[in-house]
Amino acid sequence: MEKITTTTLASNQEKRNREKLFDLYQKNPLPGEEVTSNSALFLKRQELSKILFFNELYQQIQSIHGIIIEFGCRWGQNLITLNNLRAIYEPYNYNRKILGFDTFEGFKNTDVKDGVDSIIKEGSLGVTGNYEVYLEQLLQVHENECPLSHIEKNKLIKGDAPISLKKYLEDNPQALIAFAWFDFDLYKPTLDCLNLIKPYLTKGAVLGFDELNDPKFPGETLALREFADLNSLKIQRNKFSGMQSYVVMD
Ligand SMILES: C[S@@+](CC[C@H](N)C(=O)[O-])C[C@H]1O[C@@H](n2cnc3c(N)ncnc32)[C@H](O)[C@@H]1O
Repeated sequence: MEKITTTTLASNQEKRNREKLFDLYQKNPLPGEEVTSNSALFLKRQELSKILFFNELYQQIQSIHGIIIEFGCRWGQNLITLNNLRAIYEPYNYNRKILGFDTFEGFKNTDVKDGVDSIIKEGSLGVTGNYEVYLEQLLQVHENECPLSHIEKNKLIKGDAPISLKKYLEDNPQALIAFAWFDFDLYKPTLDCLNLIKPYLTKGAVLGFDELNDPKFPGETLALREFADLNSLKIQRNKFSGMQSYVVMD
C-alpha cells in the first residue's frame, strides 16, 4: 500500500473508535450487495453532516443555470453526493455537468501563505495510483441508476487545476458556472481558479469553501481576500456546516 499523507482533527479516543469502525466494516457479515445498500451502517455523523450541507446548497443552486465544479475532489465523495443530488432534484437536467479537478497526486503549488502545518507540502493528501480510473467507474455506476444516464454529465480533469481549468474554459466557451466548491486547501490554486472562473459566474451562482477561517489552512481565506473585498461578501454557513461556508454572488 502506498503511503498517503492525510490529516485529522480527531482525538486519540476518536481515532481508536474509527479503527474499531473500520475493523467492523472489514469483518461485516452482510452478504454481497447488501453491504453497499446498507452503507449507512458505516456512515459517521461527520460525513452525514457534509451530505446534508451539500443537500441545502444544492437546493440553493437548483434554479441557477450552469455547471458544478469541485476544485480538489480527492477520493470523490462529494462528486458522488452531487451526482445523486442532481438525480433527486433535477433528474432531467442533462445540462448540469459536474466536473472534478484534481492532480490525483496530492497538493501542488504550495506557498508560504499556506502556513507552517506539517501537512503543507507537495504531494500531501494524495490518492492511490490511477485512482481517477476507479473513480470514473464509480461515478458511472451511480449515474447508471439515474435518468438520461446515456448523456455524459460527469467529468474528472486530472492535473494542476489552474492549467487544466484554463484549457477547459477555452474549449468550452459556452460554460456558465452555477456552483464552484473550493477544497484545494491551498492559496495559489484557489486564487488562480477564482480569477479564471470570475467571468463565468452569474448572479445567484454560489462559491463554496471548505477551509475559510481555518487556522490550519490559511491559504484559502487569503486567496478569497485577494480575489474580493471581504467587506462586500456575505460568507454564510448553514446548520449542517462546521468549517464549510459559501457566498452567493450578487
Ligand atoms: C482536502 S483534499 C479534497 C477533499 C475532497 N474535496 C473531499 O471532501 O473528500 C484537497 C485536494 O486538492 C488537490 N489539489 C491540491 N492542489 C492542487 C492543484 N494545484 N491542482 C489540482 N488539485 C490540487 C489534492 O490533490 C487533494 O486531492
